[in-house]
Amino acid sequence: MSFYSQDLVEEIRSRSDIVDVISGYIKLQRKGSNYVGVCPFHNDRNPSMSVNQPRQIYHCFSCGAGGDVFKFVMEYENLSFPEAVKVLADRAGVALPKQEYSKEAKKQVDLKAQIMELNKLAAQYYYYTLRQPAGEQGLQYLLSRQLSGETLKKFGLGYADKYSDSLYRYLKDKGYTDQLLKESGLMQVDERRGMYDKFWNRVIFPIMDIRNRVIGFGGRVMGDGKPKYLNSPETAVFDKSRNLYGLNLARMSRKPNIILCEGYMDVIAMHQAGFSQAVASLGTAFTAQQSVILKRYTNEVLLTYDSDEAGVRAALRALPILKEAGLTAKIINMEPYKDPDEFIKARGAEAFQKRIEEAESSFFFELRMMERGYDFSDPQSKTAFFTALSERLLLFEAGVERKTYTEAAAERYHLTYDQLSSMVSQIGRKTGGLKRAPAPVPAAREQRKKEPENAELRSQRLLITWMSSDERAFRSICKYIEPEEFTDPLCRKVAELLREQWASGRLTPASLFQYFTEEEEQKKVAAMLYDTIPKLSGEEEEKKALQETIRRVKLYSIAWQAEHMDQNDLKKLQEILQRRREIEKLHISLD
Ligand code: UTP
Ligand code: MN
Repeated sequence: MSFYSQDLVEEIRSRSDIVDVISGYIKLQRKGSNYVGVCPFHNDRNPSMSVNQPRQIYHCFSCGAGGDVFKFVMEYENLSFPEAVKVLADRAGVALPKQEYSKEAKKQVDLKAQIMELNKLAAQYYYYTLRQPAGEQGLQYLLSRQLSGETLKKFGLGYADKYSDSLYRYLKDKGYTDQLLKESGLMQVDERRGMYDKFWNRVIFPIMDIRNRVIGFGGRVMGDGKPKYLNSPETAVFDKSRNLYGLNLARMSRKPNIILCEGYMDVIAMHQAGFSQAVASLGTAFTAQQSVILKRYTNEVLLTYDSDEAGVRAALRALPILKEAGLTAKIINMEPYKDPDEFIKARGAEAFQKRIEEAESSFFFELRMMERGYDFSDPQSKTAFFTALSERLLLFEAGVERKTYTEAAAERYHLTYDQLSSMVSQIGRKTGGLKRAPAPVPAAREQRKKEPENAELRSQRLLITWMSSDERAFRSICKYIEPEEFTDPLCRKVAELLREQWASGRLTPASLFQYFTEEEEQKKVAAMLYDTIPKLSGEEEEKKALQETIRRVKLYSIAWQAEHMDQNDLKKLQEILQRRREIEKLHISLD
C-alpha cells in the first residue's frame, strides 16, 4: 500500500515522537503517564483524546478515533498515507528517495493524487481560457461584478468555453483514461452523448483545500440562466462537509474572527474589500465537521447569511452547531442588502467594518427572529411569546449559563430577573423538568457503531491488550496460545502481526496500523492497543486473571471448532473433547 520501504517508514516514525507531532496541532496536557487533549475529530470541549508516548499511539475515548502518528496526520490534514509520510519526513528532516515510477506503477499511485493532478490541470486550463479571446464573455462578466485583476488571480478564477467537450479533449490528449475522468467529477456521462464536460459556458471558481490543492469547482452562468451555480460532485478528494471555500486564505488572515458567508461571490468580494477572514460552505448546509475545523483557527464566527427568509433559517440552523464546537457566534446585519457582496458594492468596506463591530450576539438574534412571530399588543400573543422565551431559556444548562441569559432577556423585555426566572421555572415544571439542549449528534459519534461486546470477544481483545503491553507478557502468553486460536478475525490478525514483529526483532504496536485500511478496523485496533489492563490488587491476582483469560480464549477456540465441524465425524468430536479436557487441566505458568 505504500511505495516507501518499511524500514524508511520506521525510521521516520522513530524520529516523529507522537506527543511532539500531535502537540503541533492541538494542545496536550500531561495526565499521569499519558497526555490528553481535546479531540479534533469530533465536537468536544472535554479532553477525550489520550496520547500514549511509550506506545506511540493515540485514542479518543469519545469518538473512537485512534491510531499511530501517521494516522493522526492523515486524519487531521486529510491526506493519504504516502502524503502523511512525506509531511512527517520533511518535519523530521529525513530525505525520501526520489520516486521513479514505471508506467505501470504510475497508474497505481493512489486515485486521490491522480484526481488532484487532473483538477490542477483543469483549473489551469480554465484560468488560461478566461484570458483568451474565447474567454472574452467570461472576463466581461467577472469585471462587470467589479472584481479586480488581482482578485481574479488570487482566486484562480477561470472560464469554461461554450463547447461542451473542450476540457475533455484537452485531458484526453494528455493520455488520461475515461474511467479516471469520470471519477474526477470533471465529466458527465450519459448514454446518448457519452462523456462530456460538466462545466461549459460558465465562469469557474476553483475550490481549494487548506493546502491550496484544487479539490473541486463551482461554475456560474453569466446572467440569469438556471441553475445559477453548478458544483463538482463529491469525489475521492472533494468532501463538501469537511471543506470551506476560502479557508486556505482565511486561515492566514490573522484576524480575531472568521466570517462565514453563503456564497463564493461573497467570499471573493469580502477578500477584495480587505476582509480576508471570509469563508463559505460549499453550496450545502453548514456541518458539524466544518465547525470543528473552524475551531482550529478561531474562537469567534460572524455569520453573514442572506437577509431573506432562507438565509435566516440557515443561520438559525448553524448557530447550535457552532456552539457545540465551542465557538461564539454573532450575526452581521446586512439590511437592506441581500448579501455581503451587494452590501460592499453599495456601501463600501468601512460601512461593513462598522456592521462587524455592531454584530448581534446569537442569542439576541434568535430572540429577534422569535419576536417576529408574535404580536406584543395582543395580551394572548404576548403571553405565548414569554412561554416560548422560557422554553428557549430552559435549553441552557441550569446554573450560571441560564442565569446570565435570563438576566439579559429580562432586561430586553423590561422585566425583573425574578419575574422572568420564576416564569422559566414554572414552564420547566410543566414541560417535564429542565431539559438540556438537544446537542446535535457529531458525525464521528454517529458513525461509531457500538457493537455489543460479548464475553468471547472481550476476552480476546483483553488478551491482545496484554500481549502488546510489554515484551515479557508477550513472551509468556505466546507459550500458550497461537494466533489461530483467536476466533475473532481482527484479533487473530493482530496476534499474527505481533508474532511477526517479535520474530523480526521487537514489538512496535504502533506500526500495526498500516496493515488495516478500514476505518472501523483501525478504531478497534486502537482501542485494543490502548486499553488498560484491569487494575488488580497485586501480582498474584494479575497472574491469575491472565491465566484465566488464556484458558477462556483457548476454550472459545475449541467451542468454535466443535460448532463448525462435520457433526457426523465422531472421531473428530472425540478429539475435540479430549482437547477440551486438556485445556481445563492445563497448567499455565507465567514466569
Ligand atoms: P446565492 O444564490 O445566494 O448566490 O447562493 P450568490 O452567492 O449571491 O451568487 P451571485 O452573487 O448571484 O453570483 C449562495 C451559494 O449557494 C450555492 C453556491 O455555493 C452559492 O455561492 N448555490 C446557489 C448553488 O450551489 N447552486 C445554485 O444554483 C445556487
Ligand atoms: Mn450574491
